[in-house]
Amino acid sequence: MKDNKIKVLFVCLGNICRSPMAEAVFARKAADSGVGDYFFVDSAGTGRWHIGNSPHNGTLAQLALHGISTSHRARAIAEPDFSEFDYIVTMDDSNYDDVLALGAEKGKVRRFVDFDSAAGYKEVPDPYYSGNFSQVYEIVDQLSSGLLKAIRAEKKI
Ligand code: 4NP
Repeated sequence: MKDNKIKVLFVCLGNICRSPMAEAVFARKAADSGVGDYFFVDSAGTGRWHIGNSPHNGTLAQLALHGISTSHRARAIAEPDFSEFDYIVTMDDSNYDDVLALGAEKGKVRRFVDFDSAAGYKEVPDPYYSGNFSQVYEIVDQLSSGLLKAIRAEKKI
């Protein structure tokens, strides 16, 4: 039963590198903080190339290194997501622009980097191009903590 949960959707381009990593890390953090049951967490891409695929090996390796597993399969963001989810969290500026262009309500769309307490990243870099999955893991880990803290404060949990 997910109807009364706080629903968080992470969005990137391919849904194989950054957003499935964020989904898994955020879900683990929520569980480790004792509030996992309050959340339904998922991820999706704005592109369609990798639909049905497992996350990238670089993402799986980083998750495994931190004791996190995932059964996510890539999917494309679709219209029902815009009403289903409470928070639509984008990795970079083009994801942000794309989900708004696809019809997401502005009030639900958040830039993941806005939950950064210190480092000042403007976007979550795409490791599909850089190959630097460990750097992205560190960023995603930090931003997930910030996002969880912000949602807990907003929702008073
Ligand atoms: P992601 O990375 O958006 O973090 O999943 C990418 C994955 C695949 C592609 C681009 C970015 N691609 O062009 O296939």
